[in-house]
Parts: sequence; structure tokens; C-alpha cells
Amino acid sequence: MSETLTAPSAAATLAEPIIELRGVSKRFSKTLDFAGRIARRLGANLREEVVHAVDGVDLTIRKGEVVGLVGESGCGKSTLGRMVAGIMPASEGTILWRGRDLTSLNAAEAREAKLRTQMIFQDPYASLNPRLKVQEIVGEAPQFHGMAKRGEIESYVDEQLRRAGLDPALKRRYPHQFSGGQRQRIGIARALAVQPEFLVCDEAVAALDVSIQAQILNLFMKLRRELDLTYLFISHDLGVVEHLSDRVVIMYLGRVVEEAPAEEVFRRPNHPYTKALLAEVPRIEARKRAFAGVKGEIPSPLNPPSGCHFHPRCPFAFDRCRIERPALQQVGAGHRSACHLNDAA
Ligand SMILES: Nc1ncnc2c1ncn2[C@@H]1O[C@H](COP(=O)(O)OP(=O)(O)OP(=O)(O)O)[C@@H](O)[C@H]1O
Ligand code: SF4
Ligand SMILES: [Mg+2]
Repeated sequence: MSETLTAPSAAATLAEPIIELRGVSKRFSKTLDFAGRIARRLGANLREEVVHAVDGVDLTIRKGEVVGLVGESGCGKSTLGRMVAGIMPASEGTILWRGRDLTSLNAAEAREAKLRTQMIFQDPYASLNPRLKVQEIVGEAPQFHGMAKRGEIESYVDEQLRRAGLDPALKRRYPHQFSGGQRQRIGIARALAVQPEFLVCDEAVAALDVSIQAQILNLFMKLRRELDLTYLFISHDLGVVEHLSDRVVIMYLGRVVEEAPAEEVFRRPNHPYTKALLAEVPRIEARKRAFAGVKGEIPSPLNPPSGCHFHPRCPFAFDRCRIERPALQQVGAGHRSACHLNDAA
């Protein structure tokens, strides 16, 4: 990756929080289908299952920060991202937007909170209406919300497309006429068109070729500088997060197990899970830094292990780990980790 991706690491330590999560959880109930309900009536021992997708997460994101969120598939990254973006309510806990509880906002404030936080997804094609031209896709929301008047909408759309690195001359085309990278740029232009301050990017470059990934990541960083944006950058790819983030948050089975300034996570990881992830990361610029290397199966979030969720895979596990959930505690400047070994030391 090029140097231009490197983010200023001291950003925003004292800036105001944009979003704060306090003890936030999300549970999904897997209801029984028709056959299941019949079977239960006939005496089968079937119960509705509950997935604890996010489990008691505390997280603060300050203005101007780029926070990377990483973890294995199914650990709850997207669910957390959706709650942060205000498009999915929490089952438990409090989410504060600019210091105000999201659930206490009136309709106008809730609308503003929603507009100010935009989500960028892995597959822009799935979220772009194939029957609309690019100018309609990008212009729809700002027109609806009165951010651009009817007579000015065309130049407003052109400006967003230019910002996202697209030629405005292409605005009468449809999404299928663009490449994957260009489609992601359309998604970004659409998000920018409602003047957000905070972008939640969920695997936003995961579906793209590596060279295109770098271009889109550079675009995100350019936009950060130009528009003073804040990011939650969700990725299963440590390489992406390393180069982009001021701060990295590591999740395991619904819980945050470690968070620290990006440099610190990579130089001085504390949590055995983070160490296991990094041990498998080649220290050269690898194309894909996946999590396949951590030994052992990922346990099911339907039935997570007791105590420390990582204990069945942890080489350092001891009796307490099987019983007691370790709390996130300070282990360095801006560095928190949830492991009982820190008490023993
Ligand atoms: N709408 C839903 N209904 C039921 N279960 C869900 C729903 N959304 C997510 N889950 C479950 O919650 C858990 C966390 O899912 P989530 O998509 O947040 O993980 P993720 O870390 O984003 O995974 P990936 O890296 O594969 O995108 C998974 O077990 C998933 O099956
Ligand atoms: S609390 Fe125990 S099981 Fe969990 S990471 Fe630390 S040593 Fe391993
Ligand atoms: Mg996901």
C-alpha cells in the first residue's frame, strides 16, 4: 500500500465523541419455522434459538478519527456497524449520538442523525437501484431533503461525482454500465450527497481487485482530509485496517477483546487472540491477510463458550477463563484489553 494511506495517528484524541456505545448488545431470535412448530407440538424438544451477535460493547468514536473494526466472520462487525449507523436498534445498552441518546431524539433530530451517518457496503450494486440513472441515484436524497434546489441539482450531483472520482459526463448511465470500482464510487457519491460527517464502511473494498482497493482507500483518505470525515472502517483484512486506521478495535464472538492506537496493536498486541491473528500475518505486504491461521473452530454464537469466549482456542487459558468474563482494562495509553492474564501479571 502506498504511504498516502497512512493516517495521522494522533488524530482527535480529545475531539468530541460522535458516537458512544455503552453496554450495547444485539440479540437475534431464530424463530421456529412451520415444520419446527409442528414438531414441537408433537413433543420434539425444539426451542427458539437466540444469537448473541453483539454482547455488551463499549465504544467511543471521536470526530476526525478513523477506527478500524476487525474480527473473524460472524463476530458481529456488521451488526455493530448497523447499530452505530442508527439503522438497527440495540437490544440492550445505550447509543449516544453527539452526547444524546439515539432513542430520545425527536423526529427532526433522528433524521439529522441518520443523514449525518452514512453506510457504505461491500456490494454497491445490491444497494444501487438498477433502473435509476446515476444522476437520479445521487440526486434523489439531497433533493428530497432540500439540500439542493431543483434548478441546482444537476451541478450539485456533478460536484459529488467529481469528489468521488467519477466523470460527471457519465451521469446518464445506469449502474450496470460501470465497473465494480466505479460502482463503489457511485455509492460513495450518493453518501456524500447528503453531507455526512461520519461514514461507516462495511467491507467497502472487500469485493474489489487489489489495485482498485488501493484507489478506493486513497479516495476515502482524500475525502477525510477534504471534508473532515470520521470513519468506522469494518474489515476482515488486517492489511487494510493497518494502513488506514488511527485506532483498531478487535472483536471476537460479539465482544471487543482489544482496542488501541493502530501502531500499538501491531507492535505490542496484548490479547492472545490478537497475537494469534498477527502471528499468522506475514510481515510483508501480503495480498490477503485472512484469519484462517488462528487454530481451532470459531464457536457458534448460538452457544458461545462460558467465561472468556476465546478460552477453547487460547493456548494460555486457565481455570478462571472458563468461568469469568474478562473486563476490558487499561494496559497502556489508549490501549485496552480483555484478558485475565493482565491481572496475573
Ligand atoms: N438479521 C439477522 N438475523 C439473525 N441472525 C443474524 C442477523 N444478522 C446477523 N446475524 C447473526 O449474528 C452474528 C453476527 O453477524 P454479523 O453479520 O454481524 O457478523 P460479521 O462479523 O459482520 O461477519 P462477516 O465478516 O461474515 O460479515 C452471526 O452469527 C449472524 O448469523
Ligand atoms: S482470558 Fe484466558 S482464555 Fe481469554 S484470552 Fe486471556 S488467557 Fe486466554
Ligand atoms: Mg459483515
